[in-house]
Amino acid sequence: MTDLPSVTAAAAEAPVSELQGLAVQEVEQNITPWEVEGAEVNGVKQVIDYNRLMKQFGTVKIDEALLERFKNVTGHEPHLFLRRGIFFSHRDLEAILSRHEQGKPFYLYTGRGPSRGHMHIGHMLPFIFCKWLQDVFDVPLVVQLTDDEKYLYKNDLTVDQVYEYSLNTVREIAAIGFKPEKTFIFSNMGYMGGAFYRNVLKISRCITFSTARSSFGYKESDHIGKIHFPSIQAAPALCSTFPTIFGNRTDVPCLIPCGIDQDPYFRLTRDVTKNLKHPKPSLIHSKFLPALQGDTSKMSSSVDNSAIFMNDTAAMIKKKINSFAFSGGRNTLEEHREFGGNPDVDVPYRYLEHFLDDDQELADLAGGYRKGEITTGQMKVRCIQVLQAYIAAFQEREKAITTADIEAFMNPSYPRSFASLATKQA
Ligand code: TYM
Ligand code: TRP
Repeated sequence: MTDLPSVTAAAAEAPVSELQGLAVQEVEQNITPWEVEGAEVNGVKQVIDYNRLMKQFGTVKIDEALLERFKNVTGHEPHLFLRRGIFFSHRDLEAILSRHEQGKPFYLYTGRGPSRGHMHIGHMLPFIFCKWLQDVFDVPLVVQLTDDEKYLYKNDLTVDQVYEYSLNTVREIAAIGFKPEKTFIFSNMGYMGGAFYRNVLKISRCITFSTARSSFGYKESDHIGKIHFPSIQAAPALCSTFPTIFGNRTDVPCLIPCGIDQDPYFRLTRDVTKNLKHPKPSLIHSKFLPALQGDTSKMSSSVDNSAIFMNDTAAMIKKKINSFAFSGGRNTLEEHREFGGNPDVDVPYRYLEHFLDDDQELADLAGGYRKGEITTGQMKVRCIQVLQAYIAAFQEREKAITTADIEAFMNPSYPRSFASLATKQA
């Protein structure tokens, strides 16, 4: 079992000199499934330190050699999220590539907690990436909507509301371009029962309260729904949770693309799969799309002005970027022209890194900004154009999604194009 050191244990181990060095007041960064905050040094918020996070979590960096292997195995140029280090860390990704090389199956698993009716552009990242992975590998994708989690973790939502949000989330996921022939999307509140619930039970019996507490920081005063929830997020990593796709098989592993904040759930999952005679899931983690206010926290649905939502109008996108986006430019135009700006912390540039395909244009924008040839205003204009175009096209596709489409995605028995998976190969 993973037993993360408690805070007090870490302090006990710290060298005395560190504890005595009181000149610098430091608050450690805090990355959990519920909170993403950069460290604080002398009261100043810092950007998120991803190298440190990989070390803390024990994940592995995706390096050039692995990208090269990816390219050789799949025959595809790595997606821009890989080329640009946005999906930057993994656990056992090689194992998935080896399986693919050997013609053995795997599946993709990701999820979303529908805390409101609409996703923001940060939530798009794992789904855009899954769409590309599904096209490259031609494998099934299962998507868990944790309406139960949002009900349990947020005090202001009703069960009817979160279920409603789940249905709208299916519509938004469909608009990314997935097909029900290859994709099963389920609401926990809707799909629980049968094989899924049996796996939830088996998993919950393998996780003690003390293990869950050291991974998630539960307190005595937390209600018991929260404490049980991790077994529900773990279960879809076991292929036997989906008998309509995998028949009686227990040997098909999954690859889980997710933001790195979700890793604690899957550390626990990886510890219990052996007992339950299933393969360990592999993971591929993304960095966070920054909040409009900058890279010290992630874009979050619970902070309205931190995010650009998929139902925002063109005018709202423009207004949010112009009024809230943190700028890496200088205080005055004269200074900017003379000394240049810093694209690395410039939020409009950072969004372009995620949503502008053209590598050359992106490099020109960064270079021009550093030299002061491109102004903050120009960077914002380009960012607004790109996001408006992406979101308008998305909204068009979304309008075309029908209730029947939503039902097809959510039907476990919908005829999917992986029938041969269900029969066990020798
Ligand atoms: P949720 O709804 O908080 O987030 C859904 C997914 O989006 C990622 N994410 C982001 N990625 C980049 N930038 C951001 N600003 C940003 N904000 C959110 C999250 O890391 C996540 O991958 N408990 C989960 C739901 C879930 C799940 C899963 C996620 C269930 N099973 C399997 C991933 C894989 C949740 O509430 O996610
Ligand atoms: N603001 C985030 C959201 O509502 C908070 C969050 C992220 C969260 N991941 C979570 C809450 C997982 C509960 C569980 O999406």
